[in-house]
Amino acid sequence: MTTVRQAAPAAIERVTIELGERSYPIVIGPGLLGDTAAVQSLVTARDLLIVTNETVAPLYLEAAQRALGPGRRTSTVVLPDGETYKTLESVSRIFDALVDARLNRDAAVVALGGGVIGDMAGFAAACYQRGIDYVQMPTTLLAQVDSSVGGKTAVNHPQGKNLIGAFHQPRCVIADTRTLDTLPVREYRAGLAEVVKYGLIYDAAFFEWLDAHAEALVQREDAAVMRAIRRSCEIKAQIVAEDEREHGLRAILNLGHTFGHAIETATGYGEWLHGEAVAAGMVLAADLSTRLGWLPAADRDRAVRLLERFGLPVAAPRIGATQARELMGMDKKVLGGRLRLVLLRSLGAAEVVADYDADALREVLEAHFG
Ligand code: NAD
Ligand code: GLY
Repeated sequence: MTTVRQAAPAAIERVTIELGERSYPIVIGPGLLGDTAAVQSLVTARDLLIVTNETVAPLYLEAAQRALGPGRRTSTVVLPDGETYKTLESVSRIFDALVDARLNRDAAVVALGGGVIGDMAGFAAACYQRGIDYVQMPTTLLAQVDSSVGGKTAVNHPQGKNLIGAFHQPRCVIADTRTLDTLPVREYRAGLAEVVKYGLIYDAAFFEWLDAHAEALVQREDAAVMRAIRRSCEIKAQIVAEDEREHGLRAILNLGHTFGHAIETATGYGEWLHGEAVAAGMVLAADLSTRLGWLPAADRDRAVRLLERFGLPVAAPRIGATQARELMGMDKKVLGGRLRLVLLRSLGAAEVVADYDADALREVLEAHFG
């Protein structure tokens, strides 16, 4: 008798975003795009527009089409790759494709790619015929731990990141962790910046775990990567369920982002990856938190060291404190003329603060931006 050795079934993790009747699952696992039954049970619309880009299409478009199954009417739009194309013009191309395919309100958009594709496809879905469904199929680490989850969609304006957008939750998130195998190392590291963010803002024990498993994560060991993605999604799910529209708590997800957006805008979108700018931005936020007497210097230094071990930039570009402050003024966290900042009360606890010492901010900007 021949013994057929069967591989153990790959672990599939499921996290739910609890938003009443708009609740949805995040399904995470290696090889999900090859699991036709799983994908078909998650995606119910018959008419679909897959939005992807010219880098991701040759890698995963065929697998996504196969997984979605033959019994549907599926069109595709392939956009140019890059943050510089995260524009209204690109979204307009998605609208054209929706109209050309005569898609109606019961159709759904499928975002196959990283955060740039997810943000644009989601925004197009939010607007087309006043809102149709969409599904996230994130293929970067950053998209799997952050941008595909939570319903923020947007495009950039030349004067500011993500200035034009909408809240629109996806129907589900299908994160095939095998797609990370083809992700360039710089992009993978950029995703790790957002993973570190979750530890810093919400979960000191997760930060400790990241510190202890940094090498396994750098080596992209399956078990460590799965755990990091699942815990990141759990934390984001809890925060979004509590404050979907960012009236308060959700803003802590933007640790380092106000500084980071200034870096991205000043250097021209695309030169610094979003995750890299967030890493350098988190160093500024941690440093300001320390100067204000909140975060012990030793914890700030641990955060900086972990980012360094992940190969992330911890020094901001010398764009000048004045320009940086000006660009930060375009951030969506300005309220009543006052720039609110996400700062760390301690490792694992963030707060949105408006009444910080303005001199301390100026000192930090001068120290890091020149
Ligand atoms: P990205 O979408 O530009 O993807 C990074 C690069 O990797 C691109 O060149 C892409 O084509 C390529 N790529 C994607 N998947 C690949 C794969 N599996 N193999 C090989 N190459 C692959 O960048 P990103 O880091 O995924 O996302 C950044 C964007 O996300 C920014 O625009 C940021 O503003 C946005 N964002 C949004 C939210 C949100 O809540 N909506 C949160 C965080 C970030
Ligand atoms: N990335 C910030 C948020 O989703 O709120």
